[in-house]
Amino acid sequence: MGMFEGKVALVTGAASGIGAATAQRFAQEGAAVIVVDMNRDGAEAVAELIRASGAQAHGVSADISRAEDNTAMVRAAIDTFGALDVAYLNAGAYAQLSFEEHDEATFDRMVAINLKGAYLGLKAVQPALSRGGAAVVTASTSGVIGLSVAAAYSAAKHGVIGLVRSASQAFAASGARVNAICPGPVATAILGVEGVPTITPADTLETVPYAGMLSPQHIAELALFLASPRSGGINGQYMIADAGFLASYPPMPQ
Ligand SMILES: NC(=O)c1ccc[n+]([C@@H]2O[C@H](COP(=O)([O-])OP(=O)(O)OC[C@H]3O[C@@H](n4cnc5c(N)ncnc54)[C@H](O)[C@@H]3O)[C@@H](O)[C@H]2O)c1
Repeated sequence: MGMFEGKVALVTGAASGIGAATAQRFAQEGAAVIVVDMNRDGAEAVAELIRASGAQAHGVSADISRAEDNTAMVRAAIDTFGALDVAYLNAGAYAQLSFEEHDEATFDRMVAINLKGAYLGLKAVQPALSRGGAAVVTASTSGVIGLSVAAAYSAAKHGVIGLVRSASQAFAASGARVNAICPGPVATAILGVEGVPTITPADTLETVPYAGMLSPQHIAELALFLASPRSGGINGQYMIADAGFLASYPPMPQ
């Protein structure tokens, strides 16, 4: 039996990187997966990859910064697979530039996608999640510590953590949970590594060297844990996955 046998999992930002790895892992563990991304072809390609493996998946095109798209993706889960047990709100966008170079349009875009997108996603999934269900949101280590080369992104990710903490009682009241993941550097398109990650058996994932680059699957495995009953005692928290970089100061020489 897989960890999510008979369950329905929705993943945003699932055409690429962390989301694509997590969508595949949910499917391997028995879930029917709603594969959401603003990249319509990319979402459909990942859904097709999952179907080709023998599991169930449905691709949905959605811009998570729009309320109606968040409502529609939840409706797609209910209409297609009859329920929503897990939502991984992972889509996000990054803008790297100095504080002096930051402009209002960049700030607004970072907040619209990374913070408002998380807010709209949580608002849409909270009433729909089944009892015992869970939402997981991708924040960032730069939601915990400032990032001098990405101030708006960092500010938005700080906001995501405040949102998750603040929403935790509402989720608890409906028998569900919500938590955040704070990845350090992960080998995805955001850092120039394009494409849909390949998945390895979970027990063979390598230990990342101190402050090294994680694979998308390292984050996927944490998302599965936080989405599963195995983390049933954890609500309103964030978990850092950065190969130890922020754990102690000063940083270890490399
Ligand atoms: N890669 C890293 O080093 C890193 C570190 C910390 C946090 N994160 C976070 O991880 C999450 C996933 O990013 P990734 O690293 O897999 O990058 P990625 O670029 O591979 O994937 C992001 C996906 O989100 C989608 N997306 C972007 N804006 C969207 C929108 N408005 N609506 C719907 N989909 C949208 C993109 O089309 C893309 O498929 C993001 O929230 C990102 O901020 C990444």
